[in-house]
Amino acid sequence: MCGIIGYIGDKKASEVLITGLSRLEYRGYDSAGIALMKNKDIFIYKAEGKLNNLVEVLKDKKNICDSSHIGIGHIRWATHGLPTTVNAHPHTCNCKSLTLVHNGIIENYQELKEELEKYGCKFVSQTDTEVAAHLIAHEYGKYKNLLKAMQAAVKKIQGAFAFCAIHKNEPDKIVVAKRNAPLVIGLGENENFIASDIPAIIEYTKKAIYLNDYQVGVVEKNSIEIYDDDGHLIQNKIEHLPFEAMSISKMGYKHFMLKEIHEQGDVVRNIISGKFVGSDKIQLENFKLTNNEINNISRIQIIACGTSLHAGMVGKYIIEKYAKIPVDVEASSEYIYRDTIADKNTLVIGISQSGETADTITAIKQVKAKGSHIVIITNRADSTMARLADSLLPVNAGIEVSVAATKSYMAQVISLYLLAIYLSEEKDLKEYKDEIKKLKKELVELPNKIEQLLENSKNIKEIAKKYSSYKNFIFIARGINYPSALEGALKLKEISYINATGYGAGELKHGPIAMLDENMPVLAILNTGVVYDKVLSNCEEAKARQAKLIGVTNYLANKDKALFDDLIMIPTVSDILSPALNIIALQLLAYYIAEYLGKDVDQPRNLAKSVTVE
Ligand code: F6R
Repeated sequence: MCGIIGYIGDKKASEVLITGLSRLEYRGYDSAGIALMKNKDIFIYKAEGKLNNLVEVLKDKKNICDSSHIGIGHIRWATHGLPTTVNAHPHTCNCKSLTLVHNGIIENYQELKEELEKYGCKFVSQTDTEVAAHLIAHEYGKYKNLLKAMQAAVKKIQGAFAFCAIHKNEPDKIVVAKRNAPLVIGLGENENFIASDIPAIIEYTKKAIYLNDYQVGVVEKNSIEIYDDDGHLIQNKIEHLPFEAMSISKMGYKHFMLKEIHEQGDVVRNIISGKFVGSDKIQLENFKLTNNEINNISRIQIIACGTSLHAGMVGKYIIEKYAKIPVDVEASSEYIYRDTIADKNTLVIGISQSGETADTITAIKQVKAKGSHIVIITNRADSTMARLADSLLPVNAGIEVSVAATKSYMAQVISLYLLAIYLSEEKDLKEYKDEIKKLKKELVELPNKIEQLLENSKNIKEIAKKYSSYKNFIFIARGINYPSALEGALKLKEISYINATGYGAGELKHGPIAMLDENMPVLAILNTGVVYDKVLSNCEEAKARQAKLIGVTNYLANKDKALFDDLIMIPTVSDILSPALNIIALQLLAYYIAEYLGKDVDQPRNLAKSVTVE
C-alpha cells in the first residue's frame, strides 16, 4: 500500500504533490510527507494522520512551497513502525543529502541495517524505508551518481518496492526504481510526473510510461531514461491513459460509500449493456479461449481476497450450476504457500477491484507458470493484474473512492453471472437454456429493482439506529447467499468496528449457537428457494436462545413474520440472482450503523483500498 508521487517541471511542486497525494489516499492515510528541492537544498515536511494535517503544516512554509519545482511525496499505510511523524516518509540518510519515498516492503531490512550500522549509519525511525535511504546514500558515496547508486542498491534489496529518490548534488532529477509495486511516469511538456497510480496525475497528462519490475529510471524536466536490470538503456512504450480527469465529488451524499452504493443500478446497466442481443448467445469479446478449449476445461480455480473472494464464492455457485465445471474458491494468501494442482486445462479466475493486491498477483504468477489460462476480473484495466491476464474482463464500475468495496463487488458478481452464462452457452448445455433465458431477463430488470430497494431504504436506517449499540452480530444464510452473509458481516466490521461474523446457517448449531443470547443479534438472509425452510428452522433455533432476529427476505409467509424482531424486505427476485439485491440491504445496514456511530466511513482505521503487501 502507500502512495508515492514525484514532480519535476515549472509548476509549484508542493501543489502537484498534495493534489496527487489526495488522489492516492485510498492507498493509505495514516501519515503523509513531502520533500521539496530548492537551490540544492531539500526541505522535508511530514505530519501524522490524514493529509489535511500535512496541508496545515505547509501553510507556514509558503516561501519554500511557492518556489520549489521538484519534489517527492508519500502517503503511508504503516507496515514497519507506528504511524508517527518520525516514521512518515520521506526518509533521509545521516547527512540528509539523499531523500527517498517508498511503497512496498523490504524483506531483508534487518540484515541491511546491521551492515549499514557498521559503516556508522544512525537510524531514527522504525521503518524499512529508512534502511533503503541509507543504503542508496552509501552506494552514492562509492559512485557519486544517483542512478548508479540506485542500480547498485536495488540489487541488494529483497522484497517489493517502488522508489522515488532525490539528491542535493543532482538537483535536476528524480531517480525511480520498481519491483512488485506499481509505478507510472506521466509525460508532460517541460514537466514529468511520477505516481503509484494514474488518478494522481491524470489531471495533468494523458500519456505515460509504466516502469516494469527490475527497471530503474531517471526523470528530468525534459527527458526520461529507463534502464533494464543489466543497466542497458531501453525504451518503454508510451501509453495513452484510460481515464478522464475524474471528478471525485460526493454528489451531495454524505459519504462516498453511500454514493457508491447508490450507483449500483447503473453499474449493472453498464456491464450488461449490449451483452444480450435477441436470443443470441452472450458475447464476451475479451474471453480468449476457443470453444474447443472451453470444452476441455476440467476445473476452475477462483483466487481473490476479502470482498472479491466473496464475489468469487457467489461465482462458484453459478458456474457450477450452469457450466457444470467444478470450481474451487480460495484466498490468494493461502493459495500461494501450497502445492496447488493446476495445468493447461485449469481455468484460473483472479478477481480484484484494485488489480494490485499483492497476494493475488503472486498467486496468479505462480499458476500462470503452470500453463493455466488466466482470466482477470477487475475494476482497473490498467492494473498489474490486468497485464497478467490472458483474458481480461474489465468491470468498469468507475472509480470507487470509499475503502469499503460496494459497487466493485456488485460489478464482479454480475461479471461472474455473465461468465457462467457464457461458459454454459459455449458448452451448449441445452438443459439450462430455459433457465438462462429467464436469468438474462432478470439481469435486465435488476437495475430497476436495485433502485427500488434503494428508494425504500428508510426502514434500514431505522433498524441500523436500533441495533447500533450492540457489540456483536451473527449473519447467517445458506446456499448462494452464504457469501452474502460473509460479505455483509465484513462490511459491518470494516466500517463500524463491530464484531460481526458470517456463518452458513446450518453451521450455527455446530458451535456458534453457544454464543447466542439477547445481546447477540442474528441477521438471517432468507430467500424463496431450496434453502428457505432450512434457514427458517435455523432462525427458530436462534430465537429459542433469545437472540434478536433481523430477517432480510424477498418473501415471508404471514405466519412466519412474528418470529422476527425486524424485517428488511427486498424486491421479488429469484434465488439465483438474490445475492445482487441482498447485499445492497447489508451494505446499507453497515453504512447506517457506522454513520450513526460517527465513524470515518470512507477511510476506516487500519485499512487501505489497495493492499500491495503480502
Ligand atoms: C473490503 C475490501 C477488501 C478487498 C480486498 C481485496 O471492503 O475492499 O476486502 O476486497 O482487500 O482487494 P482487491 O479486490 O483490490 O484485490
